[in-house]
Formats: sequence, structure tokens, C-alpha cells
Amino acid sequence: MSAEGPEQRPERAKFREMKEGTAEDWALIAGHFREFAGGVAGRVLEHLRLLDGDFGGFPVDRLEHSLQTATRAYRDGRDEQYVVMALLHDIGDTLGSFNHPDVAAAIIKPFVREQLHWICQQHGHFQGYYYFHYLGIDRETREQFRGSPNFEACAEFCEKYDQASFDPDYQSEPLEFFEPMVHRVMARPLATLYSMDDPDAAEAAE
Ligand SMILES: [Fe+2]
Ligand SMILES: [Fe+2]
Repeated sequence: MSAEGPEQRPERAKFREMKEGTAEDWALIAGHFREFAGGVAGRVLEHLRLLDGDFGGFPVDRLEHSLQTATRAYRDGRDEQYVVMALLHDIGDTLGSFNHPDVAAAIIKPFVREQLHWICQQHGHFQGYYYFHYLGIDRETREQFRGSPNFEACAEFCEKYDQASFDPDYQSEPLEFFEPMVHRVMARPLATLYSMDDPDAAEAAE
């Protein structure tokens, strides 16, 4: 039996255009999706490690900043979803140089409560309160959110954890400490684009 033979080829859907797809095709794809989606926490952790050694002029590199932010939140008694949001809040720095909070917010959106998603998405405006004025930007851009029920929570995240986490002498927990938390939080989506007609996903979302 040749390794090149058709027996060795992974089974694939038969369509060339989606409109030719069949239930059989989609059962096959759904099976692959479940397996692949189950590995999302591992892929996110792998991507977070890309921040290692990336200083960008800051006193600590971006991985240490992430670990320090998460460690401070953890030691302050925050729950697991919060700590994971803190750990991942800057993961978008590599791919979203001009909108990094959007990248992180999109990644955590299915797995955390709405307020944590909001904090993650808007933290750039709130963090700006501490430095925008040095760059000729209005430091009060966070004021556009003053009426939001999440304003104080986001201001608190930045004050207590994010802006405070550039200390080279702080003893942060290592990434391994947070890995099980990331796996637990990302094990099951609270909400997903695909849960409507998927009994497995619906069950997982319960
Ligand atoms: Fe940030
Ligand atoms: Fe940050």
C-alpha cells in the first residue's frame, strides 16, 4: 500500500462550490471542526508565547506584562474568566498593531461574560488615560464611555492591573501556572456563531 495511495488520503468533502455540498460533506467537516476547535486554548497559548522577548521599548517584555497583569488580578481574588482576560488582553499586539484590543476581545468573546469582553475591547482607551497626553493625544478619550455600566470596571482593570504591570522586579507567576485556567475557560463556549443548530455545541454551551 503506497503512502501516496487514496487509502492514505484524509477523507474530504466532495464539493467544489459550497452550493454543491451535501449533509454527508457537512457531517465530515463538522467532525473535523469539533476536533480542531477543541485545540483553541493550546493555539492561543502558543500565540501568547510570541510576546516573549518583545519589549517595544517598555521596561518588561509583552509576555511578562501579560503575566504580571494576570498575576495581579489572580492575587487580588479575581475569578478565572477575569484572570484569563487579563492574561490575554494584549495578545493582539502581534497581529493588530493598530487595534490590538479588538483582536484579544474577539478571541475571548465566546468564553467570558459580556463585561469582561467589554473591558478587553475598550481597555486601549482607558489605558490611554495614563500616557496619551505624552503623545499629543487626548488622555480623556475614555470619557466617551462614561455612561456605560462597564466604565468603572474597565477603569479599575487598567488602574489596578494593566497600567501597574511594567515592574521588572515583580514576581509574576509563570505561564504554566495559568495554562490550566486558559484550558478550562476556553473548553466550552458560552455562546458561538455555530451553536444554533448543533446539538453538541448547544449542549456544550449549557
Ligand atoms: Fe493593551
Ligand atoms: Fe496591557
